[in-house]
Amino acid sequence: MPFLLLALLFAVFSPSPPAQALPALEKASVEASVDALLARMTLTEKIGQLNFPSLAFPPDEQLEQVRKGRIGAMLNVANRKHIDAFSEAARSSRLGIPLLFGIDAVYSFRTTFPPPIAWAATWRPKLAEAATEAIARETSAIGVNLTFAPMIDVSRDPRWGRVIEGAGEDAFLGAAFAAARVRGYRKGGLATAAKHFVGYGAPEGGRDYNGAQISVSELHDRYLPPFKAAIDAGTDTVMASFNTVNGVPVTANRPLINDLLKNAIGFRGIVMSDFAAISELINHGVAADLAEAARKAILAGIDLDMEGKAYDKNLEAEVAAGRVPVSAVDEAVRRILRVKFNLGLFDKSREPALAEIDEASVRKTAREVARESFVLLKNDAAALPIGTDTRAIALIGSAALSVNDHSWYGPAGYQKPETETLLAALRKRMKPGQQLRYAKGFADDCGRAFGDKDDALAAARRADLVILAVSEDCDVSGEGASRTDLGLSGAQQEMLEALVETGRPVALVVETGRPLTLGYAEKNAVAILIAWHPGTEGRTALAEVLTGEIAPSGKLPMTFPRSVGQIPIAYNPLPTSRPSTGNRYTTGYLDEDVTPLYPFGHGLSYTSFSYSNLAVSSPRMTPDASIEASVTLENTGTRAGSEVVQLYTRQLVASHSRPMRELKGFEKVSLAAGEKKTVRFRLAASDLAFHDDHGRAVVEPGPFKLFVGGSSTADLSAPFEITAK
Ligand code: BGC
Repeated sequence: MPFLLLALLFAVFSPSPPAQALPALEKASVEASVDALLARMTLTEKIGQLNFPSLAFPPDEQLEQVRKGRIGAMLNVANRKHIDAFSEAARSSRLGIPLLFGIDAVYSFRTTFPPPIAWAATWRPKLAEAATEAIARETSAIGVNLTFAPMIDVSRDPRWGRVIEGAGEDAFLGAAFAAARVRGYRKGGLATAAKHFVGYGAPEGGRDYNGAQISVSELHDRYLPPFKAAIDAGTDTVMASFNTVNGVPVTANRPLINDLLKNAIGFRGIVMSDFAAISELINHGVAADLAEAARKAILAGIDLDMEGKAYDKNLEAEVAAGRVPVSAVDEAVRRILRVKFNLGLFDKSREPALAEIDEASVRKTAREVARESFVLLKNDAAALPIGTDTRAIALIGSAALSVNDHSWYGPAGYQKPETETLLAALRKRMKPGQQLRYAKGFADDCGRAFGDKDDALAAARRADLVILAVSEDCDVSGEGASRTDLGLSGAQQEMLEALVETGRPVALVVETGRPLTLGYAEKNAVAILIAWHPGTEGRTALAEVLTGEIAPSGKLPMTFPRSVGQIPIAYNPLPTSRPSTGNRYTTGYLDEDVTPLYPFGHGLSYTSFSYSNLAVSSPRMTPDASIEASVTLENTGTRAGSEVVQLYTRQLVASHSRPMRELKGFEKVSLAAGEKKTVRFRLAASDLAFHDDHGRAVVEPGPFKLFVGGSSTADLSAPFEITAK
């Protein structure tokens, strides 16, 4: 109790401390403070803590609700004035419990970073940590204390538009990035929401919000690892997903939320619903009305009702009628208060002003992420970088004039930071004697319709190298952006074909938030560079890469299919009874190759690398042991570059069919021309565990093979075995 009083006094009189890593109070003192506060709360105040509405205009009524203790968290309050007003209202409520202010600072607040799919393409979790820390500093500077990020849904389906927000198709890579993103946000002063628990990335047909069918072993092996990593890294909250898993909406799914996430995994923070998801239980057909929806959600373990208005309107009556035990409400409140104490919300009232953010350093991080995220898919005869002897260059495409950054969020009324266009950045880098002709070609930023196509073709005809810069339509990535066609959007494919027909070499630069089907470009363009949506610093980074100041080093975190019919597709399917040989009665398609267009892990540089001397420290290990794999990486080209060395394993014989490959290690290595390095990976037998049909992790003795190389098709391999004890 004395601690609480002190904390409340401090909240009122403290000066403005700088944004800093979130303080973790001693566990025991937090629990004591939570219990003491809970003991003083009325049922109305408790239910108030579970109520998480969006900012309404005008906000007067909500301010009054906060003063009455009937709101515990606010959504989408992204300006200082409102945050101050709501914080003041919370302070003047009977118990003065501070509010959570949450927004989607997923990859931008003021400065736009490339999206998380691009962070994963860097294969450098440390960069994602730096990016999220910078985003968190910008965001927490106005008083926001919670972000609805990281989005860590594993997805093997590029039809699903939200792959832009995640780390792609692999659980191991996804877990590394999930942990890094949680660490970064928290260092920058924001609480995190690992989302969307669980299986939201596996909607049938790739259609957003659609249900997922996931077996127990897949759930554990493929979809849970990023969540476990985020929890180990200290995520404060977890957001439940909208969809059904095996027929039951996650928002009402007690086995998944209460039993698995809270009890089995041991998550002690807040579980929040997604936006209006509790009320949408009615649409799912599992609740007849809002009262039943509220009851099912709280009993499933959903602590915070985001925009559902279900708890606010119904829980008091549900408790009075004995349908919801007050202990369920207490448990939810306890989690919310625990997070608030842990965040130090009772200790501090203000954050520094936006002006104190060092924009130059944020931009430097954004540039570095962009540089390392670009993936060079093909590069015939070293078409890129633009050689100093390339005289006439035609740059085509409205994307080269665009500063559109697909950003998700910005503080209300803010000025977007100055953003260089690709055209301006390339012009600056032209050498004496080089001529850059630009033609816009399209009528709009995203190539939905042609502008002056003839002008573009005329510029191309006079060029030694044509660079076509296209940007996926601004509305075709993100939430609610599922697609059945993954070709270049709008008129961009037609433009590519017309340029190729000029007979001049065409290098294609694609800004995209998801894998696309680029079969025509693979056959007909001389080079393809995936730039993702590169953000505030992105076009400058792109010019650096196109002119060779920086060599590309990104690798795909998701498979690029040949056609939509191959989806879902990933690098790690199970073997079949009939491995593909081309014969009709082996696995495959009559009308399509069975391989992807570009595999997971693929990406070229401007130099070349060779792998040799793969060795394992021992060909055998017991289930409690580990071995080391080592390989020599050599830069065999004529310039410096970075390579992502990837380690995959396959269990050849086990009780269940095991994936053809599983990523188990990676390291990005920079080497000067001619330089060599030995790269080592430690592989424990426990890293090779998989989950059985009851969700139990098992390490099964048997023969394995490991593969090391620069993509998931690496062919350098070595056998080893796990023996019984
Ligand atoms: C999305 C969440 C997001 C929330 C709040 C929902 O529609 O699924 O990812 O955090 O809105 O903006």
